[in-house]
Amino acid sequence: MKILVVGGGGREHALAWKLAQSDKVSKVYGAPGNPGIAQIGECVGVSPTEVEKLADFAQKEGINLTVVGPEAPLVAGIVDEFEKRGLKIFGPSKAAARLEGSKAFSKEMMKKYGVPTADFKVFSSPEEAKEYVRKKGAPIVVKADGLAAGKGVVIAQTVEEAIEAIERIMVEKVFGSAGDRVVIEECLFGEEASYLVITDGERFIPLATAQDHKAVFDGDKGPNTGGMGAYSPAPVLSEELEREVQEKVIKPILRGMREEGHPFRGVLYAGLMITEDGVKVLEFNVRFGDPEAQAILRRLDSDLFEVCMSVAEGKLVDELKWKEETSICVVLASKGYPGKYEKGKMITGIEEAEKIPTVVVFHAGTKVENGKLVTNGGRVLNVTALGRDIVEARERVYKAVEKIHFEGMHYRRDIGLKAVKRLKGE
Ligand code: AMP
Ligand code: GLY
Repeated sequence: MKILVVGGGGREHALAWKLAQSDKVSKVYGAPGNPGIAQIGECVGVSPTEVEKLADFAQKEGINLTVVGPEAPLVAGIVDEFEKRGLKIFGPSKAAARLEGSKAFSKEMMKKYGVPTADFKVFSSPEEAKEYVRKKGAPIVVKADGLAAGKGVVIAQTVEEAIEAIERIMVEKVFGSAGDRVVIEECLFGEEASYLVITDGERFIPLATAQDHKAVFDGDKGPNTGGMGAYSPAPVLSEELEREVQEKVIKPILRGMREEGHPFRGVLYAGLMITEDGVKVLEFNVRFGDPEAQAILRRLDSDLFEVCMSVAEGKLVDELKWKEETSICVVLASKGYPGKYEKGKMITGIEEAEKIPTVVVFHAGTKVENGKLVTNGGRVLNVTALGRDIVEARERVYKAVEKIHFEGMHYRRDIGLKAVKRLKGE
């Protein structure tokens, strides 16, 4: 079987790596891929949102299954285009991907189907939005309706900050048409957790739990990033909470999507806040998290190709098998990320790092220039390792990180530390 992985980050390298392990898979392509994917397959120079070109390629090359990493192609309708041409693809349809593509749609769905979430109102007039903020007071949360690469949410501590955010999003249009509407919602307090399931629209299986580390610096300090590291399992969600999430969040939203005529197939990622009043949904994503996928896929023992194909064919496999071990992923980033950063810094030491037992290094923002591997993005590499427990996984991963070098390399040293504290009962 020939597989096409859409995307070129660390998540997609991890997907390609896992898919290539299947006995049934003969070749993996990445579009656009990255130098890590090029080591196990072939990269195709098509960008993830060039949906028709990707479908042309899949037809010409006889691709048996396409697996989509990022949200943008899903929201752009890649699944509809492939299915129209009779091509198998793993992911939600354009209409179902609106759960991530439009925060207004997502909130309306939650309200209609009784999924607990922050109180909210949707506005298409900046004046009315500002009026509402003045009436409600701060803290208050302002969200651009559409995709904004994770930057469209402002937790405003004052009314002035909220008004400024409305101005930037709706008037200055810093996120383009993603800011035609805003969602203004109540600020929630509590501990955040993610819950991911894989679903054929009817049934679902939870994925192994993982915890992301969004802030750029140790101790959750500094601005939010796409994610600086992850580990799995993440025992933040007790069994009781997990049942609550399944009953109050996952089942009603999947039923709602079916009733609206847009059954959700693929990976559904619920971003949660565990508040004093119970679990509330902050947002839905319609794909694997990055870097959560890198940690989760290191622990998957089932054949990922069979799992994805079963969803594409509308009949989910019965179970997923996981390794007992703990996995960890540390993101190596460019100096300045998530703000401005330089590219083109030479990278060394990956081979040495991978000599350490269980270590696998996934590429994200890298490229080959004049035969040398150099940095080409904010998040550059993802170093992963397994261990008996989080302590051993951390030892291995940080030993591996020390072998790798590029100018300005920055990473968090406290990935998984919350789990270590929990293990020690602190
Ligand atoms: P979202 O993209 O909607 O998940 O928002 C990004 C981040 O903003 C979340 O991971 C939370 O940390 C924070 N956030 C979003 N909505 C709220 C809310 N209603 N109250 C408090 N924090 C929020
Ligand atoms: N790591 C968070 C995300 O993928 O949205």
